[in-house]
Amino acid sequence: MIKKGIILAGGKGTRMSPLTKAVNKQLLPIYDKPLIFYPLSILMLAKIKDILIIVNKGQLKQYKRILPNGDNLGIKISYMEQNEPRGLPDAFVIGEKFIGKENVAMILGDNFFYGQNLSSLLQANTKLKKGARVVLHKVLKPELFGVAKINKNKKIIKIIEKPKKFFSDLAITGLYFFDNDVVKYSKQLKPSKRGEVEIVDLLNFYKKKNKLSADLIGRGGAWLDTGSMDDFYKTSNFVSAIENRQGLKIACLEEISFNNKWTNKKNIKKSIKFYGNCEYSQYLAKLL
Ligand code: DAU
Repeated sequence: MIKKGIILAGGKGTRMSPLTKAVNKQLLPIYDKPLIFYPLSILMLAKIKDILIIVNKGQLKQYKRILPNGDNLGIKISYMEQNEPRGLPDAFVIGEKFIGKENVAMILGDNFFYGQNLSSLLQANTKLKKGARVVLHKVLKPELFGVAKINKNKKIIKIIEKPKKFFSDLAITGLYFFDNDVVKYSKQLKPSKRGEVEIVDLLNFYKKKNKLSADLIGRGGAWLDTGSMDDFYKTSNFVSAIENRQGLKIACLEEISFNNKWTNKKNIKKSIKFYGNCEYSQYLAKLL
């Protein structure tokens, strides 16, 4: 069972400047909550309670103001800083101590997932014992992502980061499950031409050893982008449409924790006080 998860929530956020000059991208709103709530909710739906959030150097205070230590959610949140964006696998070097001898999941701080059966997909993948698993989703513009080609048995036969030439429309989403070798492999990676260690190089380590598998989110599920300004607003609109239709919130952390039986009514009352008089608090009050 994977019990530990990392959220990689640093990055320069240059594509969203000037919004990201003073505030980290993952703290900007997706409709009614900060972006970071969404990837955090995904780890919580995967029943992962021990979570490391990696943030940019100097931005710890911002994060702790909204997500102090997880006490109120019945989870454990710890933080580490990344001095500069050295690439996604750097998370496993920074997180070496946190990971210890265990397997680990990682989600990118800017990734949004939604859909039926998502919880069961997540919980099935935390059963991973050996190797690495990625989650794929069909996209119209594969050239913007890491891309994988699979064979009939869902085995990955090729992966390339942001391919210039089309070979598959299956993007590798920013949600990964790894065995403990990930720390060792990440340390061996050399920076690419753009000066970063690359997630595809890490995945290729596993692929060469025949230890890379894939899961698919079908068309009933949504994996949305928050890469550009436009994507940000589109994702916000998506959340707004669903929430206002159903009256149910996406990524309400307290609700997920309550359903997991990790928290109690007393803690939810504390959260209501913490957030103050707002729509999110009114939703929490309804839970009680
Ligand atoms: O979203 C899925 C895609 O994410 C994958 O398909 C790609 O294979 C993967 O490389 C990644 O591509 P992006 O171009 O979206 O990566 P980006 O550099 O924008 O970083 C993604 C998130 O990780 C973002 O929230 C910033 C954070 N980050 C990134 C780097 C490189 C860090 O916190 N530290 C880093 O060193």
